[in-house]
Amino acid sequence: MTLYDFDPAAFLREYWQKKVALIRNPWGSWTNPLAPDELAGLACEEEVESRLIMRGPGGWTLEHGPFEEARFEQLPAKDWTLLVQAVDHHVPEVAALIDPFRFIPNWRIDDVMVSYASDGGSAGPHFDQYDVFLIQGLGKRKWQIGGRCDDSSEILPDQDMRLLAKFEAEEEWVLEAGDILYVPPGIAHYGMAVGDDCMTYSVGFRSPSTSDLVAGWTEHLLARLPEDERYRDPDLTIQENPGEIAKSAIARLHMMMTERMTDKQGFARWFGEYSSHPKYPDVDWSPARSVGVDEVRDSIARAVPLVRSPASRYSYLPQTDDLILLFVDGQSFECGGESAAFARRLCAQVRIHLDPDLAQSAAILELVEILVNQGSVAFDEEAGE
Ligand code: SIN
Ligand code: CO
Repeated sequence: MTLYDFDPAAFLREYWQKKVALIRNPWGSWTNPLAPDELAGLACEEEVESRLIMRGPGGWTLEHGPFEEARFEQLPAKDWTLLVQAVDHHVPEVAALIDPFRFIPNWRIDDVMVSYASDGGSAGPHFDQYDVFLIQGLGKRKWQIGGRCDDSSEILPDQDMRLLAKFEAEEEWVLEAGDILYVPPGIAHYGMAVGDDCMTYSVGFRSPSTSDLVAGWTEHLLARLPEDERYRDPDLTIQENPGEIAKSAIARLHMMMTERMTDKQGFARWFGEYSSHPKYPDVDWSPARSVGVDEVRDSIARAVPLVRSPASRYSYLPQTDDLILLFVDGQSFECGGESAAFARRLCAQVRIHLDPDLAQSAAILELVEILVNQGSVAFDEEAGE
């Protein structure tokens, strides 16, 4: 899918993480990729995260899924919305909505949340910690944009919904099918369905907090630090007062800690693995029967396309000219030569057509065998040869 009259470089320069952007239907021809009934069906499934938000005379209410089908028949005519997380993991046509935004690095991409609202339905005024492209899929939604918020912004008592206690609209637009609104993190926004059958697709991003990083990295270090790596002072001399902690001791202790904490290479590898952990590991593409290297060779030789699981995360870190570290679903793989070239392609495209000659590369066969068996990729046999 291509966006017309949309310049990613100019967008990054002027809007990304900076200000709201309204992009009027850039799709050429827009087709809503998911029927409301199918969304309701997903909200009934155990492994899918969903919410129902309603506004009534007593204020906002929130219910968590999975829902019984009958729940949707009992809903009032107005003022409710159903929100379903990570629909891209289940519906390829929704996953395709991420494609035009792949100028943003893979590790920053989160998932596509889809909402369906009746007239007046809304998730309420709030702000998110993340960037989001709000694509209007079906019907109309009025979006109001408020000011910048942070941890000190007053929130309504129901912590789960995190709705703003005060919201003042500074700008307002009605979005129609195909229109896109980009909202940077921390900007208050309030979208309300105008008429029934309003569907919005939120292509959402991630950005780790310092607290996530410190917690994750130190947990990783702690699991590996040996007990006998310990303070030593063979150069100890008599001090005037035994109660004093000498500056030289503090300097040495601080060094013991910072040397480990500031290990850049170790951090880079840890971050690659950490950030490639799938958010919903229940979405499992692993084959019922594990696939052997001969089958992998055969599929590559027949030029069967290789497709990334939508739940899997792919990124890499260049090491030397020829060597890269590939990260997939919490694991790292050292790749050189033609397997590095293959891994780079796999990170760049959700679906790749391999050169059949690569069936001769033992390193590629081994990597693909692991990735297929752990459900990170699959051969699309139906696409033919
Ligand atoms: C919605 O689709 O109703 C809510 C999306 C958002 O505000 O983040
Ligand atoms: Co939001």
